[in-house]
Amino acid sequence: MNTLPDTAHPSSPGDTDGHQGRVVLVVGGAKGMGRAVVEAFAVRGARVVVADTNTLSSAYNQYRSQRVDGFTVAGELAEELSAKGLDVTALQADASDEESVRALLAEIGDRYGRLDTVVNAFGVTHVSPVATMELAEFNRVVEGNLSGVFLVSKHALPLLRADGGGSIVNFSSVSGRSGFAKVAHYCAAKFGVIGFTASLALEEARNGVRVNAVCPGMIRTAMWDYLLDEFTRPGETRDECWERMRGMIPQRAFQQPQDIAEAVLYLAAARRVTGQALGVDGGMSA
Ligand SMILES: NC(=O)c1ccc[n+]([C@@H]2O[C@H](COP(=O)([O-])OP(=O)(O)OC[C@H]3O[C@@H](n4cnc5c(N)ncnc54)[C@H](O)[C@@H]3O)[C@@H](O)[C@H]2O)c1
Repeated sequence: MNTLPDTAHPSSPGDTDGHQGRVVLVVGGAKGMGRAVVEAFAVRGARVVVADTNTLSSAYNQYRSQRVDGFTVAGELAEELSAKGLDVTALQADASDEESVRALLAEIGDRYGRLDTVVNAFGVTHVSPVATMELAEFNRVVEGNLSGVFLVSKHALPLLRADGGGSIVNFSSVSGRSGFAKVAHYCAAKFGVIGFTASLALEEARNGVRVNAVCPGMIRTAMWDYLLDEFTRPGETRDECWERMRGMIPQRAFQQPQDIAEAVLYLAAARRVTGQALGVDGGMSA
């Protein structure tokens, strides 16, 4: 059976939370928080597929380029973790491209014959006020954050259902719970991820597939490197701007990628939790 164990307690020595031997797909797992998720599952004995892309359909993203080298970096990560005896494989896929997603899931079916957990960790952001935002810009940010979640979830369902059930964890954001100026397209997409997550959880509850979202607050990945360029005020350094952002967090502490990975591990294993959006934001959404 592909269902997770009946308790959240260790099911075998060394298997601290039921992830050992599970097949886990992390889409957008080369960098940032996805990378921390890959490492967290791998050290718990999961067989991890890290899927990422070298190119995106537009340059409306935090890398300011269509070239993002995600698959190249995913390959290096898989090599590094495999050298430590962990089971990590890199596959190329663009979450926003249906043919690419279809091929990814077919490859996983051929290689492993099963799939237990899917983490949709990819995402793009872009800064623009609505008054001057182009439709193409709006659509591409929605596509890069929300349509990809739909495509990966849809094509993963047959494998997740096949052996009794599984789990999907989607990356939303604190921007999926509150609006923020100049990122209306990003907020719309991240609110959308939460609505999609809740609806799919209801559709799949009887099939044993659980669907949840994680909502990070502020983590200094490539996304914030880009946002700092946009939000740093005249006379302020980037680091001063980042410190100003701290004031938005009730705990006055930024989250680390590992904080988010812990929440993903929990959601992937929590057998009675479905349709939820879990904030890991130091209280920002409280
Ligand atoms: N950084 C933050 O403060 C923050 C806060 C809240 C939510 N988030 C969300 O968390 C997720 C991860 O963000 P991050 O900061 O780690 O970003 P990141 O840029 O560090 O990493 C994103 C990864 O996803 C990959 N990727 C992007 N689009 C892809 C696609 N279409 N197909 C396959 N791979 C793709 C990139 O190549 C990269 O490896 C995103 O959904 C983001 O919106 C980030």
